[in-house]
This record gives sequence, structure tokens and C-alpha cells, in this order.
Amino acid sequence: MSRRRTVIGNWKMNPTTIAEAFTLARARRGTPHQGVELGIAPPSVALSAVAGALRGSDVLVFAQDVHWEEKGAYTGQVSALMLRELAHGAIVGHSEVRRDQGDDDARVAAKATAALRAGLHVIYCLGESYDQRERRETDAVLARQVRDGVAAIDRGALADGERIAVAYEPIWAIGTGEAATPDQAAAAIAVLRAELRRCGLEGDAIPVLYGGSVTGDNAAEFARAEGVDGALVGGASLKQEEFARIVAAFR
Ligand code: PGA
Repeated sequence: MSRRRTVIGNWKMNPTTIAEAFTLARARRGTPHQGVELGIAPPSVALSAVAGALRGSDVLVFAQDVHWEEKGAYTGQVSALMLRELAHGAIVGHSEVRRDQGDDDARVAAKATAALRAGLHVIYCLGESYDQRERRETDAVLARQVRDGVAAIDRGALADGERIAVAYEPIWAIGTGEAATPDQAAAAIAVLRAELRRCGLEGDAIPVLYGGSVTGDNAAEFARAEGVDGALVGGASLKQEEFARIVAAFR
């Protein structure tokens, strides 16, 4: 089955000035990416500048997180309605957000529901920890994250599922320089797709990205791996040439 290929650069809490974010985003406009949906997820304070820098290009802007309510007394939070003017979509469920904000599967599902209802696209992150993999719980953890998370997204908001992609991000591989092997990624993604189907979702149609220490050197292996439709890239997305190599691997 041919699925959309997507590469997203997740800048996390970088860079530290808006001017630098603008300059970085400007540079990304020239990244050749025919056949690949290309996106950048800057920090929320830089969304507006990055959206401006990318206006008129087909490089998409994503938020790194979104709140589950539309508005109200939620100090420090950003709602999907606010993001609509600035972003094409939002990442939800990133393990660093789950860790720092205490998000569980139900809350991530609520965030995804809010984003989809507002018309945004969603990159839904999940993945097992090092300890869970060591205890051979990976498959069970992934199945649970699909069942209690992705499959708990409001079905009306999910509609045909065309605005969601899942990102398999093993926590032990994020920012460690120790990427999963392409075989590990393919095996995990097969488990995810099977559970999506079991939950009545279009497991074979939903794109699944791999994330966790993707580099210019290993991207081609992931692009060839069974079931991997793209990459969610952290550290390497801040480096223009390396990011371009990653994108090129998925073209
Ligand atoms: P990394 O981060 O590429 O720096 O490992 C990936 C991510 O957190 O999305």
C-alpha cells in the first residue's frame, strides 16, 4: 500500500532566539522534498515567526504540543483553536511532554481529538521505555498505547483518519545516538498496525514515522524498512545539510 511519506523536524526547546528560528526556517525552504511532506515543529513562541518565514512555501508548520481544551483557565497552555492560524498540525504524546507534564494515553487522545476537531493534522507519538524493552514488554506497551490512546480519539474527529500519522519513538533511542535498528522499528510498527486494525482503525492506511536518533547516515536504512513512512527528527533537524540528507532518503 502506498502511503504518504513525511519528515518532520522537531526543534524541541531550540533555538533560543526568535531571530534564529526565523533564519533556520528560511533555510529549510530550499530543502528538496518532492514526494515527501516536509514539516517543522518550532517552539510555540517561534510559531508565528516560522510561519512567516515559510509562507508561500510548501514546508508545513507543526506545534510541539496542544492543550485538550479550546480555551479557558489553563495558564501556560496553547489551544488548537489558537494554533489554527499558525500551524498545519500538532505533535501530541511526545515522550518528553508525557514525562514533563504527566500526560497519559487518555490525555494524549484528548489532545489529538482537540487538534483534529480544530482541523489540524496530528503526529501521534508513542513508544516503549528502555526498561519496558528489557522486560520484553514492548509489544504489550505499544498495543496498550494504541488501544487506550490512538483508538480513544473521538471517532467523529478522526473521521477517515487522513489527518493523523503515528510516530513510533522508542524512548531509549531519543537523543541518545542509539537508534533502533530498522528491524526493531519494522517489528514494532507491525505490532502497532495490527493493534490499530484490531481497534477498527485503518492500520494499513495510517502513515507511521520512526523517531529516535535519526541521522543523515542511518535515514536511508529506515526509509527502506518495512512499514516506515517517514521520520520524526530531533537533534539532526537543527542542522541544515544533515536534515536535507534525511529528507532525501525518503524521497
Ligand atoms: P532525536 O529526537 O532525533 O534527537 O533522537 C527525536 C524526537 O524526539 O522526536
